[in-house]
Amino acid sequence: MQEKINLLVKKAIEELNHTKDMNELMLLKSKFLGKKSEFNQFMQEIKNLPNEEKPKVGQMVNLAKNEISQKINEVKRQIEEEQILNQLKKETIDISLPGKKFPLGKKHVITQTIEEIEDIFIGLGYEIKEGPEQEQDLYNFEMLNLPKDHPARDMQDSLYISEDTLLRTHTSPVQVRTLLEYVGKKPVKIIAPGRVYRKDDDDQTHSHQFHQVEALVVDKKTSLSDLKGTLLIAAQKLFGSERQIRLRPSYFPFTEPSVEVDVSCYVCSGKGCSMCKETGWIEILGAGMVNNNVLKAAGYDPDLYQGFAIGFGVERIAMLKLGIDDIRNLYTNDLRFNSQF
Ligand code: PHE
Repeated sequence: MQEKINLLVKKAIEELNHTKDMNELMLLKSKFLGKKSEFNQFMQEIKNLPNEEKPKVGQMVNLAKNEISQKINEVKRQIEEEQILNQLKKETIDISLPGKKFPLGKKHVITQTIEEIEDIFIGLGYEIKEGPEQEQDLYNFEMLNLPKDHPARDMQDSLYISEDTLLRTHTSPVQVRTLLEYVGKKPVKIIAPGRVYRKDDDDQTHSHQFHQVEALVVDKKTSLSDLKGTLLIAAQKLFGSERQIRLRPSYFPFTEPSVEVDVSCYVCSGKGCSMCKETGWIEILGAGMVNNNVLKAAGYDPDLYQGFAIGFGVERIAMLKLGIDDIRNLYTNDLRFNSQF
């Protein structure tokens, strides 16, 4: 009996040693340990043995079965390990292969310029305010000291939607909205970036739709020198720390006095060149002290309150800074153009 068992174990181990795959292993398992295996036949035979021999032979059979099932487990582990190694080999990434290119977008020149102006004023403690692009005549003109028959309305060719609503022609209505909101509550120190519309024919320097950033300060001690200081800081941050500014008298219905602001030429430093048309100065924006009529209309006492307003044309600033000579390039979304900045 012992010999038969040993032989069987030897045969099993030998076959198991040659197994390389899981299916085969499972077949061998049932061949050697399953119901129809030779071992099971031994177990049957034990029944016929004399009682004294039964435990001994039983023990022998069990030991042999254990040995085989240990061997099966060992082979199983080897096969599994090999499977994992194979899989890892298959899935290795060749990091020396060039990857796919995912082109990254970036901010448009206009957005960059608006954010640059915003950053300057946020640094000075201003708050950002927004208003609707479809605006009431009341805020766009009337309360900005431009009554219905005012000739200066012609300065801004408007796109009306109904008799008293239009696409805003400038960001100044946000001044009115903020003044009304803050009156009697707190001083006003805001900038209002946004899109504005004019009934203009598009050409190299005009667009029917463009962007402005408005700045407005109204408080008890706001003076013309505050305006000058603020303009100087803004001009130097935008065009370089050596720049100077110059104010020329101008006219806006909502400011008095009104000024046109020039910056010393950043190409020739004021000596005179083709950029500044030999004048040494480049016009960058309009500004002024808030007109008393605007203050009054919003409920402020002009004897107590004063303020200033600044109107940046975003496209103009961007074109000057970046040397862009056709405003239409800013709207065509041609990546060959946009990606230069
Ligand atoms: N709102 C004016 C315009 O669009 C610009 C401006 C703003 C001028 C604030 C002075 C003060 O023409």
